Amino acid sequence: MGLSTGSKVIIAANKATPEELALALPARELTVNGTRYRLDVKLSKELLPHTRDAIWNILVTNMRDLRVYKASSLKWKPAAKKKEIFNRLSRFVLVFSEEEDAERLVAYTIFRFEHEDDFDILYCYELQVLQEAQRRGLGKVLMEQLVSVSKTWKIGKINLTVFLSNPGALKFYKTFGFVLDETSPGYGGEENEDDYEILAMPTS
Ligand SMILES: CC(C)(COP(=O)(O)OP(=O)(O)OC[C@H]1O[C@@H](n2cnc3c(N)ncnc32)[C@H](O)[C@@H]1OP(=O)(O)O)[C@@H](O)C(=O)NCCC(=O)NCCS
Repeated sequence: MGLSTGSKVIIAANKATPEELALALPARELTVNGTRYRLDVKLSKELLPHTRDAIWNILVTNMRDLRVYKASSLKWKPAAKKKEIFNRLSRFVLVFSEEEDAERLVAYTIFRFEHEDDFDILYCYELQVLQEAQRRGLGKVLMEQLVSVSKTWKIGKINLTVFLSNPGALKFYKTFGFVLDETSPGYGGEENEDDYEILAMPTS
């Protein structure tokens, strides 16, 4: 299985500025139940320290409470996880709630443009919504942004990894039409001896 920055499509997408990526977002602002939200796109190197901390804290709280890593074969390795999510090729779509005169990060997705086994892929590394903001449609909004970015940059599909011990996320992804990727354990009716699946959704 070969991972590289490969194809012309992926090289061009990886050169895109956040402003160019943001042009693909169908929504930059939205209001849900009276709360206003603002969406922003950032490269890893542009994140302010307090935004990095907020990204990390939402991830830790969500995954700790889900006991997802505790139950998984991958184990929770904070240093390696930080290195993965803040990789220089990571791109972030951030959702801030606008509360009185302050803004707060309430949801985000982290993705990378990758070329693997002759496919151009938008790989979604994280999709996280603050617990108190879940089930208000913010996850759906973020997924719609990823689909639009993928289509705009002519990427063939979105991939992501989900733990089997996370039934809420599995249901969420199924509502978008994600299916088992051919690279996933368990593909083609084989027994899945791992505790995760790789899901895919075509975007071309
Ligand atoms: C999974 C997650 C991103 C979904 O985001 P969200 O903003 O809560 O989801 P939405 O409100 O956009 O849900 C859209 C639809 O997905 C389905 N869905 C979402 N969460 C669900 C859950 N926990 N159980 C069952 N279905 C769910 C529902 O059909 C929902 O529509 P409905 O609320 O009208 O019934 C969010 O719950 C989360 O951050 N969870 C913790 C972190 C995590 O597991 N991330 C994924 C890692 S792979």
